Amino acid sequence: MLLEVEALDLRYGATHAVRGVSLSVAEGEIVAVLGANGAGKSSLMRAIAGAAAASGRIRLAGSDISRMPAARRVRAGLVLVPEGRQIFVSMTVEENLLVGAHTRRDRAVARDLAAVLERFPNLAARRGQPAAVLSGGEQQMLAIGRALMARPRLMMLDEPSLGLSPILVAQLFDLIAALNRQGIAILLVEQNTQMALETAARGYVMELGRIRTSGSAAELARDPALADAYLGAAAP
Ligand SMILES: Nc1ncnc2c1ncn2[C@@H]1O[C@H](COP(=O)(O)OP(=O)(O)OP(=O)(O)O)[C@@H](O)[C@H]1O
Ligand SMILES: [Mg+2]
Repeated sequence: MLLEVEALDLRYGATHAVRGVSLSVAEGEIVAVLGANGAGKSSLMRAIAGAAAASGRIRLAGSDISRMPAARRVRAGLVLVPEGRQIFVSMTVEENLLVGAHTRRDRAVARDLAAVLERFPNLAARRGQPAAVLSGGEQQMLAIGRALMARPRLMMLDEPSLGLSPILVAQLFDLIAALNRQGIAILLVEQNTQMALETAARGYVMELGRIRTSGSAAELARDPALADAYLGAAAP
C-alpha cells in the first residue's frame, strides 16, 4: 500500500471531526472520499497532510509519517490541493508554482516548471501576472500545477470541482485521470459523487467523522442508501 491510515482521530476542542478513520490507497490507484457537508472530509485530508494535529497512524510506502511535519510529508511525496485552492493572489502565477517546489532540494525545478507551463497553456500565458487575474478554472489548474511541482507520489484533492462549470469539471476529471496514468495515486474528496465514482476505483463514505461505508466505485454507485444521501437526490 502507498498510503495506510489507521484509527485517525482529530478534534477541534469539543468538535470530534475525525473519529477512528482507517483507509488505504494503493500505488497508482484513484480513491474517492465522499460525504455530506461537515462529515469531516477536509479535516481528514489536513490530518493526513500534517496540516492539523491528529492521533492515529499514517504510513506512506511503509514508513510511519504520523509525527512528520507537513513539509517533510510533501518531500516524501504526499501533497494536498486544499479546498478553495488557497493560491496566493498577490503573487504571480509563476511564483505560486514555485511555492510548490519550496521543499525540494534537487535541481530539476526549472525543468518541472517548464513542464507544468506546457501542460497548462492558460497559466503559461499569464505566468508573470498576479494569480488574482485567473478565472476559477485557471486557479484550480494553478493549485494542481503547484502540487505537481512537488513531484507527488500521492495527490490529495479536496473538492477540486467546486464552483466550476460542467465543461471545466469534465476537463478537470480528464486531468485527474491523466495524472493518474502518469503514475500519481489520487485521493479525491468530492461532492460531485457521480463524477468521482466514474473516475475512482474505490471509495469511502464519511458520516459524522466516521467511515460509514466503503467499496468499489460500482458498488457505491449502486447503493440506494447513498443515492438518497449523496448522489444528488433532493433532500426532503
Ligand atoms: N478549524 C476548525 N475549528 C473548529 N471546528 C472545525 C474546524 N474545521 C472544521 N470544523 C468542524 O469539523 C467538522 C468537520 O468539518 P470538515 O471541514 O472536515 O468537513 P467537510 O466534510 O470537509 O465538509 P464540507 O463538505 O462542507 O467541506 C464540522 O463540524 C466543522 O464545523
Ligand atoms: Mg471540506
